[in-house]
Amino acid sequence: MTGRVSARGLAIRALVEIERSGRANIVVPKLLDGDGALLSQRDRAFVTELAYGTVRMQRACDWLIGGHLSARRPLTELDRPVRAALRLGAYQLAFLHTPPHAAVSETVAVVRRPAAGLVNAVLRRVADDVAAGVDWPDVATRLSYPDWIVDRLSTDLGADDALAALEQMNQPARMTVRADGYVQDEASQQVAAAVAAGGFAGGEVIADVCAAPGGKATYLASGRPAVVVAADIDPDRARVIVENSTRLGLSNVATIVADGVAPPLRPGCLDRVLVDAPCSGLGVLRRRPDARWRIQPSDVDRLASLQRRLVDAALPLLSPGGLLVYCVCTLTRAETVGLDEWMAGAHPSACPVALDLGPAWEQGVGRGARLLPQVAGTDGMFVIAVRAPAGR
Ligand SMILES: C[S@@+](CC[C@H](N)C(=O)[O-])C[C@H]1O[C@@H](n2cnc3c(N)ncnc32)[C@H](O)[C@@H]1O
Repeated sequence: MTGRVSARGLAIRALVEIERSGRANIVVPKLLDGDGALLSQRDRAFVTELAYGTVRMQRACDWLIGGHLSARRPLTELDRPVRAALRLGAYQLAFLHTPPHAAVSETVAVVRRPAAGLVNAVLRRVADDVAAGVDWPDVATRLSYPDWIVDRLSTDLGADDALAALEQMNQPARMTVRADGYVQDEASQQVAAAVAAGGFAGGEVIADVCAAPGGKATYLASGRPAVVVAADIDPDRARVIVENSTRLGLSNVATIVADGVAPPLRPGCLDRVLVDAPCSGLGVLRRRPDARWRIQPSDVDRLASLQRRLVDAALPLLSPGGLLVYCVCTLTRAETVGLDEWMAGAHPSACPVALDLGPAWEQGVGRGARLLPQVAGTDGMFVIAVRAPAGR
């Protein structure tokens, strides 16, 4: 790579670092705060687009490149920076529709010799393929997801909804900023608003038992006469809740580090409890470009079992008539309708309640509501609310 900082050069460094060790959401901001600080605002946004987009579309890019490499030197055998440059070039050609002369020459310009020759030759062929119209081998390669995610969501949602959701989650995430300055997706705000519905006129005690980084907990606490217990099992993440509530000037958020499966709270003490459970995150893949390559099918079953244990532990915390809201930012059946079916059997006295979530949500999905990401360009989510019996 050359010494001068360029957007494409920095994007290649990001890709190398993401492949080696880390997560895009950590690597990219760190690089932008370091050498990226020398770039213009526009170039910084371009680095993010290039790095996130290339990671998202990696399977598709690898397929485009693979056909032009010799079997003796496949993509996996090349040095990391060379592999990253090839992927970056293919991404620009196929998905950003960058004119070939710019995509190829400016990518080659940040590659050291002697690899520059190989990158130039391969990207020129990819440019020709793109110009001729790519004949993708299958939908999972075209949309750049592991087969299992395409298969699972097609089974769980139906092929049309699944493919529309997967297409939508290849678009960059939109930024939504709350009135108090906190950046939070609209879908999450709608869930928090539904938890808060009816106001807390007499003052209430509420808990978010999986609260970090504090998006919904701070929403619930802001301007409301409530005490919000914000619990998370991860101490580092719990610290972020404290930082966020301090920054927002909220004195009514009590942050604790605690396992939601065994919460250190008195039974019957809560008016409302939110179980914003850890999940496979298949509704927020646009926000986490590398997540699709990390999450495994076995994670879904493990998480579904944890979600049940969290609900089991949260329900006894409710006072009579208290409200439990379960939500996940995923779309698998096991973690949504499957959880609801289990709850109906395991906790028959918990009575389902319809929440006012807004027109984009589909009600009556099991006893809950679902928001598909393609409907309003938000995260994909599932919510179910139940009330504890009034006279326990
Ligand atoms: C979906 S996130 C919560 C998002 C948060 N409610 C918000 O609105 O910003 C799930 C959180 O659950 C936490 N978590 C995972 N297992 C947990 C457990 N057993 N008990 C409590 N928290 C847990 C994770 O650390 C993660 O921060």
